[in-house]
Amino acid sequence: MTELDLAAVERLLRTEEIGRRINYLATTSSTMDIARGEAAGGAPHGAVVIAEEQTAGRGRFGRRWVSPAGKNLYLTLVLRPAAGRLRALSMIVPLAVCRAVEAVTRLRPVIKWPNDVLVGDRKLAGVLIEGESSGSELDYALAGIGVNVNDPVDDEEIAGIATSLLRELGEETSREAVLAALLNELEDAYYAPTDDVHNGWRSRIVTLGQTVRLTFRDEAYEGTAEDVDDEGSLILRLPDGTRRTFEAGEVTLRR
Ligand code: BTN
Repeated sequence: MTELDLAAVERLLRTEEIGRRINYLATTSSTMDIARGEAAGGAPHGAVVIAEEQTAGRGRFGRRWVSPAGKNLYLTLVLRPAAGRLRALSMIVPLAVCRAVEAVTRLRPVIKWPNDVLVGDRKLAGVLIEGESSGSELDYALAGIGVNVNDPVDDEEIAGIATSLLRELGEETSREAVLAALLNELEDAYYAPTDDVHNGWRSRIVTLGQTVRLTFRDEAYEGTAEDVDDEGSLILRLPDGTRRTFEAGEVTLRR
């Protein structure tokens, strides 16, 4: 297995905080678990846990995140935003993933609300945001990111729905270049004006204007995805003509 060349990543990094401390693991259960322990132990804003392989990688809604060794990027960032900015991470992180892929390849990924990164209609990258609070205070946030880089995506669990840079480009891409671009774009987006982030995120959302099925807390809703609001919630026009706003959920396009 080829290991990540962290010195090469560092040479490409132009951040002050994000990725300035990296804990690189050969294998782990989930980088979310390790990052949680580090955050609780006082790890600084921007600290990264990255693993070559995860044995219990997880996605949104408790799903499994297939995490074979040595091909992709699996990382979790420790972030320390103000409590009011937790939801903004659901825009900042997928936007940074799109921009990083755009910086390194000729691909132009899009976003399926709220934070799946797609190429065409297949998933290239996933984002998992978790917050840890005590009372009204946000202690820290964790931003988990999985990007399929040099994976042939032949695992039968995901073959029909996932893609990778390798599958899209027909050649391998430097994981170091993608990782450094991602950390750079994350820091830029983190400190960018809220409107810029919102506009950049919104302009990439393929869900808008589509008839969708949204599942939220075991209920399913069908309607037209009309827009997103300032907080990143999805505004759905239901068949009875009413509009309903959803903070979270799983969307399926009904094309
Ligand atoms: C999703 O699309 O459902 C989110 C996927 C998030 C996967 C990443 S891989 C690194 C980090 N560790 C995990 O166990 N999950 C996230």
